[in-house]
Amino acid sequence: MIRSIVVGSGSALPDRVVTNAELAKTVETSDEWIVQRTGIHQRYIANENETTASLGEAAARSALDDAGLTPDDIDFIILATSTPDNTFPASAVDIQNRLGMKHGAAFDLQAVCSGFVYAITTADAYIKAGLAKRVLVIGAETFSRLLDWEDRTTCVLFGDGAGAVILEGGEGVGLSNDRGVLTSHLRSDGSHKEKLYVDGGPSTTGTVGHLRMQGREVFKHAVAMITDVIEDAFEATGLDAGKIDWFIPHQANRRIIDASAKKLGIDPQKVVQTVHQHGNTSAASIPLAIAEARKDGRLKEGDLVLLEAMGGGFTWGAVLVRW
Ligand code: UT7
Repeated sequence: MIRSIVVGSGSALPDRVVTNAELAKTVETSDEWIVQRTGIHQRYIANENETTASLGEAAARSALDDAGLTPDDIDFIILATSTPDNTFPASAVDIQNRLGMKHGAAFDLQAVCSGFVYAITTADAYIKAGLAKRVLVIGAETFSRLLDWEDRTTCVLFGDGAGAVILEGGEGVGLSNDRGVLTSHLRSDGSHKEKLYVDGGPSTTGTVGHLRMQGREVFKHAVAMITDVIEDAFEATGLDAGKIDWFIPHQANRRIIDASAKKLGIDPQKVVQTVHQHGNTSAASIPLAIAEARKDGRLKEGDLVLLEAMGGGFTWGAVLVRW
């Protein structure tokens, strides 16, 4: 059977680092509160010349270099983002142009913090259906543009950045020791809209709007939703927590990550955490963490990796992939 194998990864971050101490000068907060409640120490914030498309392009180029490929080798680009440069066209098409591609197709996919898990699942389906050979999957966000910088309950949590992977069709025998995406499980439930949303948009206010979140409510649902969908992934493959080499979750809050790993029985040493450096970068957080674990040598070919995310919508999902 066809498997979608990860052949490269990369990332890009804005130049500017903003520490908790810097934020404490503008809103009533403290480094102690932010670290204790979230695990976040700093985040990267885009300057006016850095955008979702420019960060996405840089991450894409770094993934292409890592794979030893050029844009000519790619036939599809899927960009997971909720912060496109323009309402339309899709920022994926802008990235396609920046990469000098005149062939193939590109589109944006919007599932907020679950965007990367949705995009990997979509790319895998395109490859399995024979519609694409090599897909560039990017998660890129500039959430700083959506934040209400006077709202301490949200502005301390998010950051900007981008990460990318390249998936390539290859042969597998259909067993869980194949390389590539082994299983994907996506969920959504729109009845939770009011708990995490942006209070603007083209069809309502005609403005971009600001992110609004009932943090405690999101927190309450997060661990149960995450662990449910991961258990579905284990059931579909006959794998279990003991077989996982790396758990690479969406990086929203260290307490959510730790509680999910604990509930699933995943060894804390096997959890890749970047939330302390990046904050919550929405759809970019998983590919940023992947790139980090690849660069520092932790994540190796043949490793079994569990990806998971939960976010606005609510949307949530899990993917098991053998590197
Ligand atoms: O990626 C998409 C998914 N999003 C998430 O996963 C986020 C989920 N939620 C969370 O991570 C947490 O709920 C937060 C980090 C947002 C908040 O942590 P919490 O432990 O749930 O705190 P809380 O909202 O219950 O607030 C506790 C107190 C409140 O004061 P009172 O009402 O107890 O007097 C807040 O007003 O902390 C106060 N507070 C702050 N204090 C200092 C809220 N934000 C801040 C702040 N600095 N930045």
